[in-house]
Amino acid sequence: MSALSTPSPTSPIIEAIDVHKSFGSLEVLKGINLSVKKGEVVCLLGPSGSGKSTFLRCINHLERMTSGRILVDGQLIGYRERGGTLHEMSGKELAVQRRDIGMVFQRFNLFAHQDALTNISQAPILNRGLTREEALTDARKLLKMVDLEGRGDAYPYQLSGGQQQRAAIARALAMNPKLMLFDEPTSALDPELVGEVLGVMRKLASDGMTMIVVTHELTFAREVADRVVFMDQGVVVEEGPAREVLDNPRQERTQAFLRRMH
Ligand SMILES: Nc1ncnc2c1ncn2[C@@H]1O[C@H](COP(=O)(O)OP(=O)(O)OP(=O)(O)O)[C@@H](O)[C@H]1O
Ligand SMILES: [Mg+2]
Repeated sequence: MSALSTPSPTSPIIEAIDVHKSFGSLEVLKGINLSVKKGEVVCLLGPSGSGKSTFLRCINHLERMTSGRILVDGQLIGYRERGGTLHEMSGKELAVQRRDIGMVFQRFNLFAHQDALTNISQAPILNRGLTREEALTDARKLLKMVDLEGRGDAYPYQLSGGQQQRAAIARALAMNPKLMLFDEPTSALDPELVGEVLGVMRKLASDGMTMIVVTHELTFAREVADRVVFMDQGVVVEEGPAREVLDNPRQERTQAFLRRMH
């Protein structure tokens, strides 16, 4: 086992070091450094095209970095280091790594042909070695946690957008992840459904889940985030305690962005 897989108790759960990403000649991440402690909630803000989604996708290697490193719980993501060089992991190794990282996207990502209970319980049966009974028991608890008790037999088309998004959160949690990444989980929802999804995320945060949340919901960020990170044009422009950054931004670019949001 390499030294990288034996983190000390104080090491961050997520550590991004000088992450660069280009699409062809377009450099969209220009050296992102970010460290997130266990249980911390970080809201990532920034204008459209600033690289927020690309960065989140790099964390679970849905996007291949051009250079830099990301460690999750002390383990290098996407690569193994052998003899001083990095080798990209196989699909199988990546799948194992991704089990620790729950992700919820803007668009609902439930399987359309499965009811909610099956959506939530299938991966733990296939990948965590749970029996069907164990997985269903867990799934029912998770449905309760996301305020969907008794709706396990509903198919995605029978659920509202907010309910689908809460079921998607339950599905991600069923893998017992070490951290959760949210990419604008409420921005495709009708306004009246936003609150119920944010409510579940709030509950998750107070239960101690480590979360990175890309969002435009400033009230949520102010109340729930420990830290706000503001990105623009592929760099972190400013970061700090949520209230400090939101109420008293130091950088001109952050000030301009926040003015536009109000
Ligand atoms: N697969 C891709 N191929 C080429 N360019 C891409 C690809 N994915 C993203 N980009 C570009 O990278 C830049 C950053 O995109 P990204 O989706 O990370 O921004 P974002 O901050 O999440 O924006 P938004 O708030 O609109 O979601 C944009 O200019 C985008 O066009
Ligand atoms: Mg995005």
